[in-house]
Amino acid sequence: MKGRKIFIKIAIDSPAAAGAGTIAKALSKYYNLFYLDTGKIYRMIAFIKINQKKKFNEKFLKSRIKKLNLKSLQNKKLLSDKVGTEASLIAKNKNIRKLVHAFQINCAYRPPKKFNGSCLDGRDITYKIIPDADFKFFVTANLKIRAKRRFKELKNLKKKVSYSEVLKSIKKRDKNDYNRRISPLRKTKDSILINTTNLSKRACFLKIKKIIDKKLIVNGNL
Ligand code: C5P
Repeated sequence: MKGRKIFIKIAIDSPAAAGAGTIAKALSKYYNLFYLDTGKIYRMIAFIKINQKKKFNEKFLKSRIKKLNLKSLQNKKLLSDKVGTEASLIAKNKNIRKLVHAFQINCAYRPPKKFNGSCLDGRDITYKIIPDADFKFFVTANLKIRAKRRFKELKNLKKKVSYSEVLKSIKKRDKNDYNRRISPLRKTKDSILINTTNLSKRACFLKIKKIIDKKLIVNGNL
């Protein structure tokens, strides 16, 4: 691409609360990549469904997605477990997935010029949104560790929730995400498995950085 020295695309898929977002943010900062947490888009739609039931139709959603800006995805209200579970239900809907598809592709392939590429995380990024990504990772961790991390996160946000509720909702979301017919969560053959169960945030970042740098050096990009 004109004006950029390098252009790299990183695709990350993962089940809920496995640490993919933290890793993706750290990588995006380090390599100066445009970052998109694609789950936030489904959460935003779920939030509309919960709070603006009457307006919840295709036309309204289309106009919201057209006007979508990244700042609106930062809304802390999108982080609740209720919104997450609703997101995993609406994410089964083929028409809704179609609506957000173009937005995600645009972020991945046409990020603002100041970035050296893009990094997206979600459930179908490695095989649907960026099938030709330069780097593909499947980030996971065992269920209880994921529930503990999410519980801590929600507590820090002052949300009233118990550990067992969080565990239950993550289990439910796993079931929805792995088993749905359309764009299910799965590890593609060409994705590198990163199990974060026993790794610190720093250790995860360094592990992935090593993999990326090795390829960038071989290709003469570093
Ligand atoms: O990543 P996060 O947990 O915020 O995602 C919320 C829900 O959105 C997921 O449980 C999943 O059902 C859905 N999702 C999806 N495809 C993506 C990202 C998220 O179906 N690319």
